[in-house]
Formats: sequence, structure tokens, C-alpha cells
Amino acid sequence: MEPKLVHVPGDADIAKALNTASHGISEATHKAHLGLWQGYANKTNEIRKALAELEMDPAKANQIYSQVRALKVNYAFAYGGYKNHNVYFDTIGGSGGPATGDIATLINEAYGSFENWQKEWKTTGIGARGWAYLAYDHDEQRLFTFMGDAQDTYPAWNSTLVLALDVYEHAYFLDFQTARAKYIDAYFNVIDWDAVNARLKKGM
Ligand SMILES: [Fe+2]
Repeated sequence: MEPKLVHVPGDADIAKALNTASHGISEATHKAHLGLWQGYANKTNEIRKALAELEMDPAKANQIYSQVRALKVNYAFAYGGYKNHNVYFDTIGGSGGPATGDIATLINEAYGSFENWQKEWKTTGIGARGWAYLAYDHDEQRLFTFMGDAQDTYPAWNSTLVLALDVYEHAYFLDFQTARAKYIDAYFNVIDWDAVNARLKKGM
């Protein structure tokens, strides 16, 4: 059976994100970043094709090394990276500022105020090696800010990712060198809360 393939992003997919240039996150950063995002999409598709062709033979599976292990472990990294970047690029390029709509209500319920959440988001972003994730936990019906060290760590099941902050250095080094806190301050000015609310609504 032919595997379903993911959309490989192009220039149109970063068009809105280019609006961040006026706040210091440059077009050059996003254009270079697009190449990495495309890499996650292409590798996702490559692994899907390889899995479709792999003979699923339990006798050949091995937890130390086997083809199924190599493909499945790296699939989580490739597809995870694809999804993370989908959310990152979809939720920037807006007018930033305090949250609006349903997400504002949920942030207040979970954190008491937007400022409290902002502090947690920035602290999480600085403490992470890769990502800060804002997700709606369907089991507890509330938001939670998760930390990610890689493309495939550490979200929890039954949550909808509504906002993702890339803190890998490729996301900001060109513009801020190692000053990640300044990048996150700039990021707060470009969050697209309408896009976050649309993701929330879709996931409900
Ligand atoms: Fe990235």
C-alpha cells in the first residue's frame, strides 16, 4: 500500500512569519530555517516509504539494532520535528501582545494571569534545549506548558499542541547570537493569537 505523504513546506508557508523582521527575527533566519523544516518533511516521507516496504517480521526485530527500530525511532524525530515547525511557523507573524479569545481564558484559568504564563513560557524556553510547548490537555481540560529537549521529547498523550517556541540556536543565533532571552522577548511581540485560537478550536 502506498504511504500517505506529508506536505513539504515552501516559501508560501513562511510568508506570514516574515512579518517578524520588524521585531528583530529576520527574514534570513526564517529562510534558512525553512530548509530545516523541509528536511523534517522529506525525512518523514522517506521513512514512511521505507516502512511501507519493510517486511514486518518479528524474528528480525531487535531492541539493540534492527531496521524497524532505526526507522521507528527516527520517525518520531522526523515527524515530531515536522509537527513542531508546523505549529511554530503557523503561530508567528502576528501582532503579539496579551492573548485574546478562548486561549486567553484558558491561560487565565491555568496560570492566574497572562503575565504569569509569560514568565513560565520564557523560563521554560530558557531551560529547554529545543522547545517550549503550550498544549491543551484533554484529560484535565486545561493548558500545560511542556518542555522539549529535542524534536521527539517530552509531550504527553491526549494533548493538543497550540503554540510551539523553537529555542534551538538556529531559530535566533543570526539575530541575537546567544541571547536567547532577547529572542523570546521579541517572540512575544509576534505571536499570532488568532492562529493559536484556531488550533485550539480545531483540537477541541
Ligand atoms: Fe527549528
